[in-house]
Amino acid sequence: MGCSSSSSSAVQEIKKNGATFFDSGKLGSIEVKNRLVMAAMTRCRGDPTTGIPNDLMADYYAQRADFGLILTECSQISPLSNAFPGSGGIYSKEQVEGWKKVTQKVHEKGGKIVLQIWHSGRAVLKEFIGGSDPLAPSAIAIRTPHAYTKGPHPVPKEMTKEDIKTVIEEFRQGAVNAKEAGFDGIQLHGANGYLVDQFLKDGTNHRTDEYGGSIENRARFLFEALDALISVFGADKVGIKLSPTGRYNDMYDSNPLESLKYVLKELEKRKIAFVEVKRHNKTEVSSSENGKDEHGQTLPEVQIPNFFDQIRPLYSGTLILNDGVDQKLGEELLATGKADFISFAKLAIANPDLPNRFKNGWEVAMPDFSLLFSGGEKGYNDYHRHEAKKQE
Ligand SMILES: Cc1cc2nc3c(=O)[nH]c(=O)nc-3n(C[C@H](O)[C@H](O)[C@H](O)COP(=O)(O)O)c2cc1C
Repeated sequence: MGCSSSSSSAVQEIKKNGATFFDSGKLGSIEVKNRLVMAAMTRCRGDPTTGIPNDLMADYYAQRADFGLILTECSQISPLSNAFPGSGGIYSKEQVEGWKKVTQKVHEKGGKIVLQIWHSGRAVLKEFIGGSDPLAPSAIAIRTPHAYTKGPHPVPKEMTKEDIKTVIEEFRQGAVNAKEAGFDGIQLHGANGYLVDQFLKDGTNHRTDEYGGSIENRARFLFEALDALISVFGADKVGIKLSPTGRYNDMYDSNPLESLKYVLKELEKRKIAFVEVKRHNKTEVSSSENGKDEHGQTLPEVQIPNFFDQIRPLYSGTLILNDGVDQKLGEELLATGKADFISFAKLAIANPDLPNRFKNGWEVAMPDFSLLFSGGEKGYNDYHRHEAKKQE
Protein backbone atom coordinates (compact mmCIF):
# COMPACT_ATOMS: atom_id res chain seq x y z
CA MET A 1 0.00 0.00 0.00
CA GLY A 2 3.03 2.28 0.30
CA CYS A 3 1.89 3.73 3.61
CA SER A 4 4.64 4.91 5.91
CA SER A 5 4.96 3.53 9.44
CA SER A 6 4.50 6.98 10.97
CA SER A 7 1.17 7.47 9.24
CA SER A 8 -0.08 4.01 10.22
CA SER A 9 0.78 4.61 13.90
CA ALA A 10 -1.13 7.87 13.72
CA VAL A 11 -4.03 5.87 12.29
CA GLN A 12 -3.89 3.42 15.22
CA GLU A 13 -3.99 6.34 17.60
CA ILE A 14 -7.04 7.77 15.89
CA LYS A 15 -8.75 4.38 15.87
CA LYS A 16 -8.31 4.11 19.65
CA ASN A 17 -9.94 7.50 19.95
CA GLY A 18 -12.71 7.02 17.40
CA ALA A 19 -15.20 9.87 17.47
CA THR A 20 -18.96 10.26 17.45
CA PHE A 21 -20.92 12.80 15.44
CA PHE A 22 -21.33 14.94 18.54
CA ASP A 23 -17.71 15.27 19.60
CA SER A 24 -16.21 18.67 19.05
CA GLY A 25 -13.14 18.70 16.83
CA LYS A 26 -10.55 20.67 14.93
CA LEU A 27 -9.77 21.00 11.26
CA GLY A 28 -6.32 22.56 11.40
CA SER A 29 -6.95 25.57 13.61
CA ILE A 30 -10.69 25.71 12.85
CA GLU A 31 -12.49 24.57 16.00
CA VAL A 32 -15.93 23.06 15.46
CA LYS A 33 -18.70 21.81 17.72
CA ASN A 34 -19.51 18.51 15.97
CA ARG A 35 -18.36 16.17 13.22
CA LEU A 36 -21.06 16.98 10.65
CA VAL A 37 -19.91 19.06 7.70
CA MET A 38 -22.26 20.61 5.19
CA ALA A 39 -20.74 19.71 1.81
CA ALA A 40 -20.27 22.33 -0.91
CA MET A 41 -23.39 22.79 -3.00
CA THR A 42 -24.08 25.01 -5.97
CA ARG A 43 -27.63 26.29 -5.63
CA CYS A 44 -27.61 29.26 -8.08
CA ARG A 45 -29.56 31.63 -5.83
CA GLY A 46 -27.19 34.61 -6.19
CA ASP A 47 -27.35 37.27 -8.87
CA PRO A 48 -26.91 35.46 -12.22
CA THR A 49 -25.18 38.42 -13.89
CA THR A 50 -22.92 39.77 -11.16
CA GLY A 51 -22.45 36.69 -8.92
CA ILE A 52 -23.16 38.83 -5.85
CA PRO A 53 -24.30 36.82 -2.82
CA ASN A 54 -27.61 38.09 -1.40
CA ASP A 55 -29.73 38.02 1.77
CA LEU A 56 -31.46 34.82 0.69
CA MET A 57 -28.10 33.07 0.68
CA ALA A 58 -27.18 34.56 4.06
CA ASP A 59 -30.39 33.10 5.51
CA TYR A 60 -29.82 29.72 3.86
CA TYR A 61 -26.32 29.30 5.22
CA ALA A 62 -27.24 30.66 8.67
CA GLN A 63 -30.13 28.16 8.89
CA ARG A 64 -27.46 25.44 8.72
CA ALA A 65 -25.14 26.88 11.40
CA ASP A 66 -25.76 23.79 13.60
CA PHE A 67 -23.37 21.85 11.35
CA GLY A 68 -19.85 21.83 12.79
CA LEU A 69 -18.63 23.32 9.51
CA ILE A 70 -20.32 24.73 6.42
CA LEU A 71 -18.60 24.54 3.05
CA THR A 72 -20.06 27.06 0.62
CA GLU A 73 -21.09 26.50 -2.97
CA CYS A 74 -18.13 26.56 -5.35
CA SER A 75 -17.18 30.20 -5.78
CA GLN A 76 -15.68 31.41 -9.06
CA ILE A 77 -12.40 33.32 -9.18
CA SER A 78 -13.17 35.14 -12.46
CA PRO A 79 -16.02 35.63 -14.93
CA LEU A 80 -14.35 33.06 -17.21
CA SER A 81 -14.38 30.38 -14.53
CA ASN A 82 -18.09 30.19 -13.83
CA ALA A 83 -20.16 27.29 -15.15
CA PHE A 84 -23.14 28.20 -12.96
CA PRO A 85 -24.74 31.64 -13.35
CA GLY A 86 -26.11 32.54 -9.93
CA SER A 87 -23.15 31.14 -7.97
CA GLY A 88 -21.61 33.63 -5.57
CA GLY A 89 -18.24 34.74 -6.95
CA ILE A 90 -15.11 35.86 -5.10
CA TYR A 91 -13.40 38.27 -7.51
CA SER A 92 -15.28 41.59 -7.18
CA LYS A 93 -15.61 44.09 -4.31
CA GLU A 94 -19.41 43.75 -4.45
CA GLN A 95 -19.18 39.98 -4.14
CA VAL A 96 -16.96 40.36 -1.06
CA GLU A 97 -19.54 42.70 0.47
CA GLY A 98 -22.28 40.15 -0.28
CA TRP A 99 -20.30 37.32 1.32
CA LYS A 100 -19.67 39.47 4.41
CA LYS A 101 -23.40 39.33 5.13
CA VAL A 102 -23.27 35.53 4.84
CA THR A 103 -20.28 35.02 7.12
CA GLN A 104 -21.62 37.49 9.70
CA LYS A 105 -24.98 35.78 9.90
CA VAL A 106 -23.44 32.30 10.18
CA HIS A 107 -21.09 33.52 12.91
CA GLU A 108 -23.95 35.19 14.81
CA LYS A 109 -25.63 31.76 14.91
CA GLY A 110 -22.43 30.15 16.24
CA GLY A 111 -21.44 28.44 12.99
CA LYS A 112 -18.17 28.15 11.06
CA ILE A 113 -18.00 28.68 7.31
CA VAL A 114 -15.31 27.95 4.73
CA LEU A 115 -15.41 29.16 1.12
CA GLN A 116 -14.98 26.57 -1.63
CA ILE A 117 -12.90 28.28 -4.31
CA TRP A 118 -13.22 27.11 -7.89
CA HIS A 119 -12.44 27.34 -11.58
CA SER A 120 -14.71 25.37 -13.90
CA GLY A 121 -12.07 24.89 -16.63
CA ARG A 122 -13.57 23.10 -19.66
CA ALA A 123 -16.87 22.33 -17.90
CA VAL A 124 -18.64 25.47 -19.03
CA LEU A 125 -20.63 26.62 -22.03
CA LYS A 126 -19.35 29.57 -24.08
CA GLU A 127 -22.66 31.37 -23.59
CA PHE A 128 -21.97 31.52 -19.82
CA ILE A 129 -18.59 33.20 -20.34
CA GLY A 130 -19.33 35.84 -22.96
CA GLY A 131 -18.50 33.64 -25.94
CA SER A 132 -14.88 32.98 -24.87
CA ASP A 133 -13.22 29.60 -25.22
CA PRO A 134 -13.13 27.74 -21.90
CA LEU A 135 -9.67 27.05 -20.48
CA ALA A 136 -8.34 23.54 -19.82
CA PRO A 137 -5.02 21.69 -19.58
CA SER A 138 -5.64 20.16 -23.03
CA ALA A 139 -8.03 20.84 -25.91
CA ILE A 140 -10.33 17.92 -25.08
CA ALA A 141 -14.09 18.48 -24.86
CA ILE A 142 -16.49 16.74 -22.50
CA ARG A 143 -17.98 13.93 -24.58
CA THR A 144 -21.33 13.84 -22.83
CA PRO A 145 -24.10 16.38 -23.59
CA HIS A 146 -24.55 19.39 -21.32
CA ALA A 147 -26.90 18.63 -18.42
CA TYR A 148 -29.37 21.43 -19.22
CA THR A 149 -29.01 22.39 -22.89
CA LYS A 150 -28.40 18.75 -23.94
CA GLY A 151 -26.09 20.23 -26.60
CA PRO A 152 -22.37 19.45 -27.04
CA HIS A 153 -19.69 20.93 -24.83
CA PRO A 154 -17.20 23.27 -26.53
CA VAL A 155 -13.63 22.25 -27.24
CA PRO A 156 -11.57 24.19 -24.67
CA LYS A 157 -8.39 26.14 -25.28
CA GLU A 158 -5.20 24.48 -24.05
CA MET A 159 -3.82 26.81 -21.40
CA THR A 160 -0.49 28.50 -22.05
CA LYS A 161 2.01 28.96 -19.22
CA GLU A 162 0.83 32.58 -19.10
CA ASP A 163 -2.80 31.41 -18.68
CA ILE A 164 -1.68 29.15 -15.83
CA LYS A 165 0.12 32.01 -14.09
CA THR A 166 -2.94 34.23 -14.45
CA VAL A 167 -5.28 31.63 -12.99
CA ILE A 168 -2.99 30.87 -10.04
CA GLU A 169 -2.90 34.60 -9.30
CA GLU A 170 -6.72 34.66 -9.50
CA PHE A 171 -6.84 31.88 -6.90
CA ARG A 172 -4.51 33.91 -4.65
CA GLN A 173 -6.55 37.09 -5.07
CA GLY A 174 -9.73 35.06 -4.42
CA ALA A 175 -8.22 33.91 -1.14
CA VAL A 176 -7.37 37.50 -0.18
CA ASN A 177 -11.00 38.42 -0.92
CA ALA A 178 -12.33 35.42 1.03
CA LYS A 179 -10.27 36.45 4.04
CA GLU A 180 -11.63 39.95 3.82
CA ALA A 181 -15.17 38.55 3.58
CA GLY A 182 -14.69 36.89 6.98
CA PHE A 183 -14.45 33.20 6.07
CA ASP A 184 -12.97 30.82 8.65
CA GLY A 185 -10.94 29.12 5.94
CA ILE A 186 -10.84 28.13 2.31
CA GLN A 187 -11.25 24.87 0.40
CA LEU A 188 -9.73 24.28 -3.03
CA HIS A 189 -12.21 22.49 -5.30
CA GLY A 190 -10.04 19.72 -6.67
CA ALA A 191 -12.95 17.38 -7.43
CA ASN A 192 -15.81 16.70 -9.86
CA GLY A 193 -14.09 17.38 -13.15
CA TYR A 194 -13.30 21.06 -12.79
CA LEU A 195 -9.99 22.73 -13.63
CA VAL A 196 -7.80 21.34 -10.83
CA ASP A 197 -9.19 17.83 -11.41
CA GLN A 198 -8.74 18.24 -15.19
CA PHE A 199 -5.01 18.79 -14.63
CA LEU A 200 -4.81 15.87 -12.19
CA LYS A 201 -6.42 13.14 -14.27
CA ASP A 202 -4.65 11.66 -17.28
CA GLY A 203 -7.90 11.41 -19.29
CA THR A 204 -8.08 15.21 -19.54
CA ASN A 205 -4.43 16.18 -19.25
CA HIS A 206 -2.37 15.29 -22.34
CA ARG A 207 0.22 18.02 -21.90
CA THR A 208 3.86 17.39 -22.67
CA ASP A 209 5.31 20.21 -20.55
CA GLU A 210 5.96 20.21 -16.77
CA TYR A 211 2.18 20.29 -16.10
CA GLY A 212 1.50 16.97 -17.86
CA GLY A 213 2.72 13.38 -18.08
CA SER A 214 3.74 11.98 -14.67
CA ILE A 215 1.47 12.41 -11.63
CA GLU A 216 4.14 14.71 -10.17
CA ASN A 217 3.64 16.97 -13.20
CA ARG A 218 -0.16 16.63 -13.38
CA ALA A 219 -0.42 17.58 -9.69
CA ARG A 220 1.75 20.68 -10.18
CA PHE A 221 -1.20 22.94 -10.95
CA LEU A 222 -3.09 21.69 -7.85
CA PHE A 223 -0.15 22.44 -5.58
CA GLU A 224 0.52 25.84 -7.14
CA ALA A 225 -3.13 26.78 -6.54
CA LEU A 226 -3.08 25.30 -3.02
CA ASP A 227 0.16 27.08 -2.12
CA ALA A 228 -1.38 30.35 -3.31
CA LEU A 229 -4.26 29.79 -0.84
CA ILE A 230 -1.84 28.80 1.92
CA SER A 231 0.17 32.00 1.33
CA VAL A 232 -2.94 33.96 2.30
CA PHE A 233 -4.76 31.89 4.95
CA GLY A 234 -1.94 29.73 6.37
CA ALA A 235 -1.99 25.95 5.94
CA ASP A 236 -4.06 25.42 9.10
CA LYS A 237 -7.07 27.10 7.46
CA VAL A 238 -6.83 25.54 4.00
CA GLY A 239 -8.54 22.37 2.81
CA ILE A 240 -9.13 20.54 -0.46
CA LYS A 241 -11.76 18.27 -2.00
CA LEU A 242 -10.77 15.33 -4.20
CA SER A 243 -12.79 12.77 -6.16
CA PRO A 244 -10.21 10.28 -7.45
CA THR A 245 -12.68 7.90 -9.11
CA GLY A 246 -15.33 10.50 -9.96
CA ARG A 247 -16.73 10.33 -13.49
CA TYR A 248 -18.89 13.46 -13.38
CA ASN A 249 -17.99 15.80 -16.28
CA ASP A 250 -16.61 12.84 -18.26
CA MET A 251 -13.53 12.38 -16.10
CA TYR A 252 -11.15 9.43 -16.05
CA ASP A 253 -7.80 8.58 -14.55
CA SER A 254 -6.13 5.34 -15.59
CA ASN A 255 -4.64 4.78 -12.11
CA PRO A 256 -6.53 6.83 -9.53
CA LEU A 257 -5.16 4.99 -6.50
CA GLU A 258 -1.55 5.73 -7.44
CA SER A 259 -2.48 9.35 -8.25
CA LEU A 260 -4.27 9.70 -4.92
CA LYS A 261 -1.34 8.20 -3.01
CA TYR A 262 1.00 10.79 -4.46
CA VAL A 263 -1.34 13.72 -3.85
CA LEU A 264 -2.08 12.67 -0.25
CA LYS A 265 1.62 12.16 0.47
CA GLU A 266 2.35 15.69 -0.72
CA LEU A 267 -0.69 17.13 1.11
CA GLU A 268 0.49 15.46 4.30
CA LYS A 269 3.77 17.40 4.07
CA ARG A 270 1.89 20.70 3.88
CA LYS A 271 -0.09 20.02 7.09
CA ILE A 272 -3.27 21.56 5.75
CA ALA A 273 -6.50 21.82 7.76
CA PHE A 274 -8.39 19.01 6.04
CA VAL A 275 -8.82 16.80 3.01
CA GLU A 276 -12.34 15.90 1.88
CA VAL A 277 -12.53 12.79 -0.29
CA LYS A 278 -15.64 11.97 -2.31
CA ARG A 279 -16.20 8.47 -3.60
CA HIS A 280 -17.73 8.00 -7.05
CA ASN A 281 -21.47 8.05 -7.40
CA LYS A 282 -23.15 5.23 -9.31
CA THR A 283 -25.15 7.72 -11.38
CA GLU A 284 -21.89 9.05 -12.87
CA VAL A 285 -21.21 5.85 -14.86
CA SER A 286 -23.58 4.97 -17.65
CA SER A 287 -22.89 1.30 -18.35
CA SER A 288 -21.06 -1.53 -16.71
CA GLU A 289 -20.15 -4.57 -18.79
CA ASN A 290 -17.10 -6.69 -17.93
CA GLY A 291 -15.84 -4.12 -15.48
CA LYS A 292 -15.75 -1.44 -18.22
CA ASP A 293 -17.88 1.60 -18.95
CA GLU A 294 -19.27 2.65 -22.34
CA HIS A 295 -15.90 4.13 -23.35
CA GLY A 296 -14.07 0.92 -22.45
CA GLN A 297 -12.66 2.51 -19.29
CA THR A 298 -12.29 0.51 -16.08
CA LEU A 299 -15.16 1.06 -13.66
CA PRO A 300 -14.50 3.13 -10.53
CA GLU A 301 -15.34 0.31 -8.12
CA VAL A 302 -12.83 -1.92 -9.91
CA GLN A 303 -10.17 0.79 -9.75
CA ILE A 304 -10.62 1.45 -6.01
CA PRO A 305 -12.73 -1.24 -4.36
CA ASN A 306 -14.10 -0.63 -0.84
CA PHE A 307 -13.34 3.02 -1.32
CA PHE A 308 -13.77 4.28 2.25
CA ASP A 309 -11.43 1.56 3.60
CA GLN A 310 -8.61 2.66 1.33
CA ILE A 311 -8.19 6.32 2.28
CA ARG A 312 -7.20 6.40 5.97
CA PRO A 313 -4.04 4.32 5.58
CA LEU A 314 -2.85 6.87 3.02
CA TYR A 315 -3.35 10.00 5.11
CA SER A 316 -2.99 10.70 8.82
CA GLY A 317 -4.23 14.30 8.74
CA THR A 318 -7.84 15.41 9.17
CA LEU A 319 -10.08 13.53 6.78
CA ILE A 320 -13.64 14.24 5.72
CA LEU A 321 -15.36 11.40 3.85
CA ASN A 322 -18.27 12.03 1.52
CA ASP A 323 -20.92 10.64 -0.75
CA GLY A 324 -23.98 8.67 0.08
CA VAL A 325 -23.22 8.45 3.80
CA ASP A 326 -26.20 8.01 6.12
CA GLN A 327 -26.22 8.22 9.91
CA LYS A 328 -25.35 4.57 10.48
CA LEU A 329 -22.44 4.46 8.04
CA GLY A 330 -21.20 7.83 9.29
CA GLU A 331 -21.18 6.55 12.88
CA GLU A 332 -19.14 3.52 11.79
CA LEU A 333 -16.63 5.59 9.80
CA LEU A 334 -16.12 7.93 12.76
CA ALA A 335 -16.01 5.19 15.42
CA THR A 336 -13.35 3.22 13.51
CA GLY A 337 -11.32 6.35 12.81
CA LYS A 338 -11.66 5.86 9.04
CA ALA A 339 -13.02 9.41 8.97
CA ASP A 340 -12.62 12.39 11.28
CA PHE A 341 -15.63 14.17 9.81
CA ILE A 342 -18.46 13.30 7.43
CA SER A 343 -19.83 15.74 4.89
CA PHE A 344 -23.45 15.73 3.79
CA ALA A 345 -24.88 17.46 0.75
CA LYS A 346 -28.42 16.33 -0.10
CA LEU A 347 -29.32 15.75 3.55
CA ALA A 348 -28.09 19.25 4.41
CA ILE A 349 -30.51 20.73 1.88
CA ALA A 350 -33.62 19.11 3.28
CA ASN A 351 -32.60 19.01 6.95
CA PRO A 352 -31.15 22.34 8.08
CA ASP A 353 -31.07 20.86 11.61
CA LEU A 354 -29.45 17.55 10.62
CA PRO A 355 -27.18 17.38 13.72
CA ASN A 356 -30.23 17.58 15.99
CA ARG A 357 -32.13 15.04 13.95
CA PHE A 358 -29.24 12.58 14.27
CA LYS A 359 -28.96 13.28 18.00
CA ASN A 360 -32.65 12.68 18.66
CA GLY A 361 -33.23 9.91 16.15
CA TRP A 362 -35.73 12.06 14.27
CA GLU A 363 -36.67 11.25 10.68
CA VAL A 364 -34.58 12.82 7.91
CA ALA A 365 -36.13 14.30 4.76
CA MET A 366 -34.93 14.21 1.13
CA PRO A 367 -34.85 17.40 -0.97
CA ASP A 368 -37.09 18.32 -3.87
CA PHE A 369 -34.70 17.58 -6.75
CA SER A 370 -36.57 19.85 -9.17
CA LEU A 371 -35.55 22.84 -7.02
CA LEU A 372 -31.84 22.11 -6.60
CA PHE A 373 -30.65 24.86 -8.96
CA SER A 374 -33.63 27.19 -9.23
CA GLY A 375 -36.80 28.23 -7.44
CA GLY A 376 -35.68 31.20 -5.36
CA GLU A 377 -36.68 30.67 -1.74
CA LYS A 378 -38.64 27.55 -2.66
CA GLY A 379 -36.64 24.39 -2.10
CA TYR A 380 -33.89 26.55 -0.57
CA ASN A 381 -34.87 28.44 2.54
CA ASP A 382 -38.21 26.77 3.24
CA TYR A 383 -37.08 23.41 4.62
CA HIS A 384 -38.33 23.12 8.18
CA ARG A 385 -36.46 22.33 11.30
CA HIS A 386 -37.94 19.23 12.89
CA GLU A 387 -39.25 21.12 15.92
CA ALA A 388 -40.90 23.72 13.70
CA LYS A 389 -42.55 20.97 11.69
CA LYS A 390 -43.98 19.35 14.83
CA GLN A 391 -45.60 22.61 15.94
CA GLU A 392 -47.55 23.07 12.68
C1 LIG B 1 -27.30 20.48 -5.68
C2 LIG B 1 -25.89 20.02 -5.55
C3 LIG B 1 -24.85 20.90 -5.84
C4 LIG B 1 -23.52 20.53 -5.68
N1 LIG B 1 -22.53 21.44 -5.87
C5 LIG B 1 -21.25 21.13 -5.53
C6 LIG B 1 -20.25 22.13 -5.49
O1 LIG B 1 -20.48 23.32 -5.76
N2 LIG B 1 -19.00 21.76 -5.12
C7 LIG B 1 -18.70 20.46 -4.78
O2 LIG B 1 -17.56 20.18 -4.43
N3 LIG B 1 -19.63 19.50 -4.81
C8 LIG B 1 -20.89 19.81 -5.14
N4 LIG B 1 -21.88 18.86 -5.06
C9 LIG B 1 -21.50 17.51 -4.61
C10 LIG B 1 -21.70 17.38 -3.09
O3 LIG B 1 -20.86 18.27 -2.38
C11 LIG B 1 -21.43 15.96 -2.62
O4 LIG B 1 -20.09 15.64 -2.90
C12 LIG B 1 -22.36 14.93 -3.25
O5 LIG B 1 -23.68 15.40 -3.35
C13 LIG B 1 -22.38 13.63 -2.44
O6 LIG B 1 -22.79 13.87 -1.10
P1 LIG B 1 -24.24 13.40 -0.56
O7 LIG B 1 -24.37 11.94 -0.89
O8 LIG B 1 -24.22 13.69 0.90
O9 LIG B 1 -25.27 14.21 -1.31
C14 LIG B 1 -23.21 19.20 -5.26
C15 LIG B 1 -24.26 18.31 -4.99
C16 LIG B 1 -25.57 18.70 -5.11
C17 LIG B 1 -26.67 17.73 -4.78
